[in-house]
Amino acid sequence: MAEHWFISGANRGIGHGLARRLAERGDDVTASVRSEEARERLAAEVARHRARFSIVVFDVRDEAAIRAAADEVVAPLDVLVCNAGAYGPQRQSSLDMDFAGALDLFSVNTLGPLRLVQALLPALRLARNPRVVVVSSGIGSMSAAGSGNIAYRASKAAVNKIVQGLATDLEREGIVVVALSPGWVRTDMGGENAEISVEESARGSIATIDALTASDTGRFLDYRNKSVPW
Ligand SMILES: NC(=O)c1ccc[n+]([C@@H]2O[C@H](COP(=O)([O-])OP(=O)(O)OC[C@H]3O[C@@H](n4cnc5c(N)ncnc54)[C@H](OP(=O)(O)O)[C@@H]3O)[C@@H](O)[C@H]2O)c1
Repeated sequence: MAEHWFISGANRGIGHGLARRLAERGDDVTASVRSEEARERLAAEVARHRARFSIVVFDVRDEAAIRAAADEVVAPLDVLVCNAGAYGPQRQSSLDMDFAGALDLFSVNTLGPLRLVQALLPALRLARNPRVVVVSSGIGSMSAAGSGNIAYRASKAAVNKIVQGLATDLEREGIVVVALSPGWVRTDMGGENAEISVEESARGSIATIDALTASDTGRFLDYRNKSVPW
């Protein structure tokens, strides 16, 4: 049965792959992009799915813009995928940090998903089987000892804590909340040497999300439906 999915950051990369695949299999998709220009480009690309594909425009750092866009989102919303994210400033080692850049990154990667969840909760509450998926990263895991790009890693470790909090607070309402590692994917962020294609990540992530049940809430899963250590 067709479901209504919301994908943030859908103009390129993993979000684009998810939105395209979902539209092709007949789900209803609301996609977010950051500019009018990106909206027009995506709208032209998905013109043949027009009846089932809506596009809203906001930056995940802008709470007022997210709330205004949320008013346009048709309820019920079955699945919210908080995918939009950034890698952060050039200078982000634990010994030499661009602090302003790191703070901005936290606003995108850590608080961006929370702004989206809070704005879209009324639409999620009207769904039969609502799910929230926050795209995190295996390199944000506390068990991954690497220190490169520490601002990015820390922003994802912090969003994992937010996922845990949301899962606890929304459990009694039956809203499933998980963190998802999409794999190392060939996108602008992942680079051309990454392990898997956008299509493989999107296919696996969608299958993982399709299979979620109430007992999965609060878990950290990857695109192959395997547990990732926190
Ligand atoms: N690629 C990987 O190997 C990998 C691995 C682990 C986790 N991830 C995570 O997967 C997600 C998608 O990554 P990707 O590889 O697809 O990255 P990407 O190709 O760089 O695409 C990032 C997407 O996020 C959007 N975005 C960035 N900052 C935003 C903001 N402030 N407000 C709204 N949208 C914003 C971008 O929009 P614009 O085009 O407007 O910039 C774009 O649509 C991210 O959360 C990333 O951390 C990726």
